[in-house]
Amino acid sequence: MDAKVPNARHSNEDRISVLEELLNERYSVRAFLPREVDRATIEHVLKTAQRTASWCNSQPWQVLIASGEARERFRKAIYAEAASGAGDDHDFTPPREYVGVYLERRRESGFQLYNTLGIARGDKMAYAKQALENYNFFGAPHVAVIHTNEPLGIYGAIDCGAYVSNFMLAAQALGLGTIPQAALARHSGLIRRHFNLPDDRRVVCGISFGYADNDHKVNSYRTSRASVADTVTFVEE
Ligand SMILES: Cc1cc2nc3c(=O)[nH]c(=O)nc-3n(C[C@H](O)[C@H](O)[C@H](O)COP(=O)(O)O)c2cc1C
Repeated sequence: MDAKVPNARHSNEDRISVLEELLNERYSVRAFLPREVDRATIEHVLKTAQRTASWCNSQPWQVLIASGEARERFRKAIYAEAASGAGDDHDFTPPREYVGVYLERRRESGFQLYNTLGIARGDKMAYAKQALENYNFFGAPHVAVIHTNEPLGIYGAIDCGAYVSNFMLAAQALGLGTIPQAALARHSGLIRRHFNLPDDRRVVCGISFGYADNDHKVNSYRTSRASVADTVTFVEE
């Protein structure tokens, strides 16, 4: 029998079904409506995500949210750098290579995106054009930049990753759409300069968010997940 959580307001069955619903519904939104999200709703997301666990409770995430004119100035600056073909300027080393099953999963999700958009396999120009949409924030009216403290190293980034997940789930619960974006972190130096971030801040990723354009075809497919059996090893003896 499941253990009852002290002072819980809902049954375990209700609690897990809401969590499952949120996890199953959430997807990376790549077309947003221009409608802005009111400040109270954004603050509700932030307050919820603030409960994220972190190593030694260091809570290394700092979140910069650009909206309105500030979002437009940032969009122009980062789009221009990305479109110029500028080199990789990640604060954290990006994946060196996708091999084996990781390459297969990457390909599957990539082809889902391109097929949905009617982009032919191998059409590198069209791939690049779609990738640049990252720097228009896919039309989202708000973009968050998540950054961590340099001396905390990779574990600071892990804590920020957990924060990103909780941000996305809280946003989902309040009817918002989100997309986490490592693409923005490719321009970490520009972000630090543009927003005058202190030298000891390291950019982990962005999250564009707002209301999903449910009529846009790019939002119509869902990615798969490996089974638990493919992922977990139970060791008992
Ligand atoms: C840390 C992180 C960074 C990501 N960066 C990007 C990105 O730069 N651009 C993009 O289109 N999607 C990005 N994604 C979205 C992933 O492609 C997506 O989560 C994955 O394909 C699973 O699909 P789903 O989010 O729709 O379930 C990122 C996801 C994560 C977790």
